Amino acid sequence: MSIGLPHQRERFYNAAAIDTLLDGLVEHGFAITEHFLDAELVDALREELFSLERNAALDNAGIGRGNEHQLRRDIRGDAIRWLDQESLAQRRYLAVMDDVREAINRGLYMGLFEFEAHFAHYPPGTFYKKHLDSFRGRANRVISSVLYLNRDWPADGGGEMALYASDDDSCELGRVIPEAGTFVCFLSDTIPHEVLPTRLPRASIAGWFRRNASLGGVVDPDH
Ligand code: OGA
Ligand code: MN
Repeated sequence: MSIGLPHQRERFYNAAAIDTLLDGLVEHGFAITEHFLDAELVDALREELFSLERNAALDNAGIGRGNEHQLRRDIRGDAIRWLDQESLAQRRYLAVMDDVREAINRGLYMGLFEFEAHFAHYPPGTFYKKHLDSFRGRANRVISSVLYLNRDWPADGGGEMALYASDDDSCELGRVIPEAGTFVCFLSDTIPHEVLPTRLPRASIAGWFRRNASLGGVVDPDH
């Protein structure tokens, strides 16, 4: 029997930041929000990623999909693990991303129906060269997201994410310091970006809001 109390779901993010995030996507194609996620949840996600790393439970990330998948340490040097609701922290993060997805759908009419994400660990000296996360025409990744997990990132730590307006390196739109709690969203097929060489072990969660775009029978598979 209901006792008449409204159902209170704990929030683990700064809901007031969502409008700014939507504005940024519309006006610039990207949005950078500091202190987006609850600090304790960020800590739990970081601990989980570093424990996966210690237990050799991460896989070296590659590039290209399906049969064309290949390891290219000269292009990207991170090791990853897909989120699968295994831990409370993952479930909480995925629930936050569901709220973000719904807000984007309500505000921007985007029809995003799914979110996929992986932990990423960049060992010292690694990077991810400039790339797009999806290609126009067969893009089912519509909006990319990154949450950063390292606390107290030093000024000389490297590992920033640089966002560009085009393939031209001179058109840099912004640089994101990979500091715990910072959350970035950008249009997957529009904003080239790169991870600059990191000096410290760098921890993040990269995620994609997707639309079901199986165009002309070409289904974009999961990596
Ligand atoms: C990616 C990516 C950026 C980052 O995984 O596709 O661009 O800052 N990550 O980790
Ligand atoms: Mn990317």
